[in-house]
Amino acid sequence: MMSDIAVLPASEATIEFIDLSAQRRRLGRRIDEAVLRVVDQGKFIMGPEVAELETQLSAFCGAKHVLSCANGTDALGLALMARNLKRGQAVMVPSFTFAATAEVVAWFDAVPVFVDVCEDSFNIGSGEPRSWHRHRQATWARTGGSHHRRPFRTACRV
Ligand SMILES: Cc1ncc(COP(=O)(O)O)c(C=O)c1O
Repeated sequence: MMSDIAVLPASEATIEFIDLSAQRRRLGRRIDEAVLRVVDQGKFIMGPEVAELETQLSAFCGAKHVLSCANGTDALGLALMARNLKRGQAVMVPSFTFAATAEVVAWFDAVPVFVDVCEDSFNIGSGEPRSWHRHRQATWARTGGSHHRRPFRTACRV
């Protein structure tokens, strides 16, 4: 088996910002096979591959329900739909993120409120209630791991 690791002299070593070819080397054949299976079935929406993905994600995350969607932007939009967001409502979003995080708030005619992120995790943390304190009706759009749920709840009680 060929190694994915190449040892280069330090002067020649470069690290790609996003090295998609490394992923391709590792998973390429499995991805090609899976894509072919879907194309052969002709079931691009809610087909057996999607059901299998949701089942596996459910087990992996320990979540009762998993709803897959086309991309991260749609996922954020779905989360805000589930919050039954009202027009003009403030939504706390991390200031260090991708444009989509605030964009989806605008889909609902709501107002993104940018708040600082924690230096160690880049997620919104408990130290950040001040900048959104005045938005008592604020809900939130979070990206990142679930380990920051508790500090967020702390912020919600402000
Ligand atoms: C933090 C964050 N949220 C949302 C998105 C949007 O995801 P997508 O491009 O899959 O819609 C991105 C994309 O880079 C992202 O980095």
